[in-house]
Amino acid sequence: MIRVLFLCLGNICRSPMAEAVFRSMLEESGLDKHIEADSAGLGGWHVGEPPHQGTIDVLMKHSIRYDGIRSRQIGKSDLTDFDYIAAMDEDNVKGLSKLGTVGKTKVFRLLDLVEDSAVKDVPDPYYTGNFDEVYQLVAKGCATLLQKIVAEHQLANGQ
Ligand code: 4NP
Repeated sequence: MIRVLFLCLGNICRSPMAEAVFRSMLEESGLDKHIEADSAGLGGWHVGEPPHQGTIDVLMKHSIRYDGIRSRQIGKSDLTDFDYIAAMDEDNVKGLSKLGTVGKTKVFRLLDLVEDSAVKDVPDPYYTGNFDEVYQLVAKGCATLLQKIVAEHQLANGQ
């Protein structure tokens, strides 16, 4: 199984949205047989909580399931358990590096994969309130990430 972790600060707004969007892409393409997704936050303030209502609203608007997603704090074992860690912003990448070294895991900002994206940090809607903007960015990032993984692992859709 190829394992992908989405990382943000609180794991209630951006990274659970990315997890839900990416999972729906995996299910639609049949790639859920090969790839699985999870999310975590650097901070532990919301551990055990479901996603923020703004994230829930935007996911429901796009008919994307989010059941079972609960906030958790990233731990040292995550540094070796995942093949890819897609961080929402540069602060998340820095925070992750303070936790330890990652070995073979590929760590990057999600939007660094989207070449034509002027925005490279996914803005935090916990502060901006703009969950629709986050959805657009995260959807683009997730689609590009999926293409990257498919190419790197010679997977074909539906296989
Ligand atoms: P997220 O947003 O990192 O996108 O989940 C935040 C959620 C909660 C907090 C900060 C950011 N907080 O400080 O509680």
